[in-house]
Amino acid sequence: MDHVITRKENLNEADYLIDVVAPEVAKKFQPGNFAVLLTVPNGERIPMSIEKAENDKITMYIKRLGKTSKELDDREVGDALYKVVGPMGNPPQLKKYGNVVFASDLVCGHAENSAMCRELKKIEGNHVISIQSYPTKNDVYPDKELAIDCCHEHILATEDGSVGKMGHYLDILEEMLQERQIDQVFAGGGIPPLQELSELTKRYNVPVMTTVRQIMVDATGMCGSCRVFVDGKQKLACIDGPMFDGHKVDWAAAISRLAMFKEKEAEAMECYNKEIKELR
Ligand SMILES: Cc1cc2nc3c(=O)[nH]c(=O)nc-3n(C[C@H](O)[C@H](O)[C@H](O)COP(=O)(O)OP(=O)(O)OC[C@H]3O[C@@H](n4cnc5c(N)ncnc54)[C@H](O)[C@@H]3O)c2cc1C
Ligand code: FES
Repeated sequence: MDHVITRKENLNEADYLIDVVAPEVAKKFQPGNFAVLLTVPNGERIPMSIEKAENDKITMYIKRLGKTSKELDDREVGDALYKVVGPMGNPPQLKKYGNVVFASDLVCGHAENSAMCRELKKIEGNHVISIQSYPTKNDVYPDKELAIDCCHEHILATEDGSVGKMGHYLDILEEMLQERQIDQVFAGGGIPPLQELSELTKRYNVPVMTTVRQIMVDATGMCGSCRVFVDGKQKLACIDGPMFDGHKVDWAAAISRLAMFKEKEAEAMECYNKEIKELR
């Protein structure tokens, strides 16, 4: 089966979305799952959260970061990816919580949350609040599907106050925790703020599930690259997660593992840019 790209849209300078044909993944998708993409044979396997699955296609929101996200961005509608594997991961159980907050500081983090938001919104007794924070107005992607349709209440914030409320989602959530009852928090996006979020929610005694995006190599539980220490026990983000109880994650270990491949990533990007330059 060809994994053809059927839609590709630029969202802002840093982010884009794609729809890819992947019937097996779409059929079994549950909110909170991710897929593993291989753009070329023997290429890097990159994990990407699935925003939604419709018919035989899945939608993913992607940030341009290094070699593979750039290589993917250079593809056009009609091009095919070599492989799309999934659905992967062990999504959390979605049930009646009461007032539940989803928070992220990345467009792809909001996309990752949105399928869970939509599901929780359908369950009577839940009031779903989405806090979407961005560095500045240029990073905002105020999409109706991600922002309005998936929740009961949507709060937009920018760290410089250029649009929406001023602050990071941590500031907005802290204000909220002081003023009203919150029963559950889910959060993803950049890892470092998740540590602070876990400390914040612990102070208010509110449970938090965090998406721990550790670097994945095989994404099948064999290589150990994505290990996370939860309550002192080793877990694998690719098969046990990627969502874990934030109050129990060893954040210092999780953050230090992110820098593991920095040199190799920079080298890969440099080689790819050189190849592209030579082709042009
Ligand atoms: C469960 C999960 C879901 C994810 N969902 C999304 C998503 O929906 N949209 C999105 O844009 N990104 C997502 N990511 C991150 C994405 O996989 C990486 O940004 C991507 O692999 C970057 O590859 P690159 O070659 O472009 O950049 P690189 O230069 O290789 O890396 C840039 C940075 O991306 C991260 N990264 C690199 N390789 C991996 C890897 N194999 N696994 C995890 N992180 C990596 C590291 O922090 C690294 O410093 C997700 C990661 C995980 C673990
Ligand atoms: S990526 Fe290899 S064990 Fe999870």
